[in-house]
Amino acid sequence: MKIATHELRCTECGTRIAGTAVNSIFRCTICNGLYDVIYPWSAIPNGDTPASDSKLPNASALRWLWQERRTSTMSVDQSGVWRFRDLLPIVDDLDHVVTLREGNTPLYDLPRASKALGVDWILAKHQGMNPTGSFKDTGMTAALSVASERGFEWVACASTGNTSAAMAAYAARAGMRSIVFIPEGKIAWGKLSQSMDYGALTIQLKTDFDGCVNVLTDLVNRFPIMLLNSVNPYRLEGQKTPAFELVEQLEWQVPEHIIVPGGNLANGSALAKGFSEMHHLGLIPRIPKVSIIQAEGANPLFRSLQENGGEDLIPVKANTRATAIRIGNPASWRKALRALRTTGGWCEQVSEQEIALAKAEIGSEGIGCEPASAVTLAGLKKLVAQGKIGREERVVLILTGHTLKDSTYTIDYHRGELFTDEESTQISGSDQILHAALRKPPIVLDADTDTVFRALESQMKLVHA
Ligand code: F0G
Repeated sequence: MKIATHELRCTECGTRIAGTAVNSIFRCTICNGLYDVIYPWSAIPNGDTPASDSKLPNASALRWLWQERRTSTMSVDQSGVWRFRDLLPIVDDLDHVVTLREGNTPLYDLPRASKALGVDWILAKHQGMNPTGSFKDTGMTAALSVASERGFEWVACASTGNTSAAMAAYAARAGMRSIVFIPEGKIAWGKLSQSMDYGALTIQLKTDFDGCVNVLTDLVNRFPIMLLNSVNPYRLEGQKTPAFELVEQLEWQVPEHIIVPGGNLANGSALAKGFSEMHHLGLIPRIPKVSIIQAEGANPLFRSLQENGGEDLIPVKANTRATAIRIGNPASWRKALRALRTTGGWCEQVSEQEIALAKAEIGSEGIGCEPASAVTLAGLKKLVAQGKIGREERVVLILTGHTLKDSTYTIDYHRGELFTDEESTQISGSDQILHAALRKPPIVLDADTDTVFRALESQMKLVHA
């Protein structure tokens, strides 16, 4: 079945090229800008004309079709990405689709966080429930399918861990070889183990994420390897689909706010693209505000907005325990800026202590996530305190990674070993109380019933006190 019909459009200078004409680094040859995938029905910014025949897909027909596919046994229908394939026609032949039945992630309420924050309606869309435990799977199924259709044998990425895990898994499914560049000693063990488990060639470079990107760029310029970092616009076509799935789960109601963590800064713009497309096609009446939260130690976008209104990026030497977002020179910062501006969202930064508290709070609701995902709740607290988000507004946090991705962080937190003494003294009195209530270090006891009973008794007294 022939379904592909798309072009790539430079987000900076507007130049349009055929998808197959793109260079190995996915950058415009005229201005070095990044591309967006566009379709004949896309709304083109700056009054440019649509790609060709602009007949819009019918909104009710799409809703019906997407619902119908839920009962199908075909793998492309069971995938929470390809079920929406009408809005991402990027492969000619569906036989090339590489899927692990990604997407279909749950939407949870967070009643305790809602109560504590005085916001009636806080939900978490848990993208960590994807096959390799992070939101990257939705993008990898899309980009790997294109790589497979274009006949690539090798794919590669630089990663803080989740991209590499997802790429390695999807490449293995496709029977392709993958090369992973990761900063040595700076990614969580769970993620490192995944790329080995899925058979990737894993190369730990003695540098940071930004240094890995530089080496990878040279490599793909010299060899026929498809670059699978998020500069690859096909990744973002997959990563926009959680926006579709989310509003479908809400029976086509649109929340007021979406909050995402910011690292290389592609995901916020992918979701914003998904919402904009649905709005343009009449599937939803308005677009939610998409806000991006960075860790204080890896805050180039926040800093640039503060210091020059987002005119130029101020790269930083990144450092945060939320290793997934330990990025100082994010490739997609202009796309992120555009997402903030078009949706009306904000960029905030949160401290290491705020991240740890938010992660423990999400964990205490029985959900759990990796540290980078917890910046969303920490950021929400700030936006509420600043009066930017009100009590009746509906908020969806995008939890990007599973709690098991970084169990070392969680264990260190509960054992009270995460922070330096200096960092601990920076925690406010009220937050100290919250931390104390949330910390559940393991108790080591002799295997003797009386000893265990006594320990339990004292714990129960604590609970009832
Ligand atoms: N959350 C998690 C768990 C991530 O792994 C990442 C990025 C982000 C948030 C940020 O998303 O880059 O689109 O702003 N991880 C990449 C990686 C960089 O290599 O796994 P972004």
